[in-house]
Amino acid sequence: MNLLLKSPAATRRLGLKLGAAIEPGDFIALTGDLGAGKTVLVKAIAEGAKVPEPATSPTFALVNVYRGRIQLQHLDLYRLTGPAELFALGFDDLLAEPAATVCEWAEKAEKALPKDRLDIALEHAGPRSRKARLTATGERGERLLKAATTR
Ligand SMILES: Nc1ncnc2c1ncn2[C@@H]1O[C@H](COP(=O)(O)OP(=O)(O)OP(=O)(O)O)[C@@H](O)[C@H]1O
Ligand SMILES: [Mg+2]
Repeated sequence: MNLLLKSPAATRRLGLKLGAAIEPGDFIALTGDLGAGKTVLVKAIAEGAKVPEPATSPTFALVNVYRGRIQLQHLDLYRLTGPAELFALGFDDLLAEPAATVCEWAEKAEKALPKDRLDIALEHAGPRSRKARLTATGERGERLLKAATTR
């Protein structure tokens, strides 16, 4: 499904809906260039999930964990050098946590990504607008996709 997010506020509204619906075991894979709006979306997902701390971009750590209504893991794989580092990061262990996961630069994890996901590809469409392409790859992804598209 394609959405045109005409302002940061529109991106935030999408994140709030996703955050309200997200459950432990869910995985949202975010892709898109620098400044595409991945972190803006993650912050709104965290807000919608009612996790107390703001989900800032994890600059040094590859993963930040936030506890609120649920446990939310925020990964940013921008600095990931290769699959070997995913092991060092304990990626499989993270996926086994009773937590929901939102992952920036998810394409860097390649085949290590869980099978059932909601993929969101963000693309610049103007100074204040972004295109979002949402794709569910399983039942969990489908449920999130529905939540994102109902008002
Ligand atoms: N429609 C929009 N949705 C989201 N962000 C927007 C939009 N329009 C403009 N912006 C701006 O684009 C920037 C997006 O920054 P953000 O940190 O979310 O990008 P990112 O994809 O996480 O980049 P990085 O890969 O560097 O982490 C923000 O400054 C935000 O205000
Ligand atoms: Mg970011």
